[in-house]
Amino acid sequence: MITTNKKKATVIVFLAAFIFFGVAAYNPPKTPQGEFKNLQVLPKDISHEYLDKIMHSFNDALNVKCMFCHVHTGDDWRAGWDFAADTKDEKGAARHMLKMTMDINANYFNWANSSRPDTIRAVRCVTCHRGSPHPDKETIDDQMKKLGFGQPPPPPPPGSAPPKN
Ligand code: HEC
Ligand code: HEC
Repeated sequence: MITTNKKKATVIVFLAAFIFFGVAAYNPPKTPQGEFKNLQVLPKDISHEYLDKIMHSFNDALNVKCMFCHVHTGDDWRAGWDFAADTKDEKGAARHMLKMTMDINANYFNWANSSRPDTIRAVRCVTCHRGSPHPDKETIDDQMKKLGFGQPPPPPPPGSAPPKN
């Protein structure tokens, strides 16, 4: 049973990182090689339909449009896209996020020992982003200051300052 669970879990882990989590997700349909030119994280033979769902899930999770990560040129709304291009930093960031999410799901949930791995609530983009490209407004600097680190040193106690005259 463990073997089946693990095998299932690997697939779930991978897919749960993205979006929906249904029966269809166990067996994603495939597409002939070569439709997509620059997939480095997602499976190269992913179906058009499935890729589309994942991309729309990004839009929803971050509350952005495709253009947030992909370049569009010219006036023709349909023809002006170059989805394979890595021009925008946001696309690179999204790839890292994708890997991070998959890593969290693969390594920090109890897939192997669970009798019901299909009930585990894995992490998705929306888990953190909740409709914003910047899920946390506070920078690491703000956070450290709140914790009392990195503050300017307190004024010296009275009497310890050197006399002025
Ligand atoms: C948050 C960023 C982000 C958003 C928003 C986004 N994408 Fe993507 N998209 C990516 C990343 C990252 C990849 C590459 C994934 C990989 O390397 O496995 C990609 C790949 C693609 C590809 C494959 C291109 C190729 O040939 O390699 C297509 C097509 C695509 N996106 C379409 C869309 C569409 C359509 C939308 C809007 C509905 C959209 N994307 C929204 C980040 C995004
Ligand atoms: C564990 C929480 C978490 C998860 C899960 C997560 N993100 Fe993020 N993401 C963040 C945080 C926090 C930042 C801001 C990082 C910073 O300020 O440098 C961020 C930043 C980004 C950015 C950069 C935004 C910009 O304007 O530069 C993109 C794009 C992004 N995430 C896409 C995704 C996508 C797509 C997924 C799902 C595959 C995802 N994230 C999953 C926490 C998360």
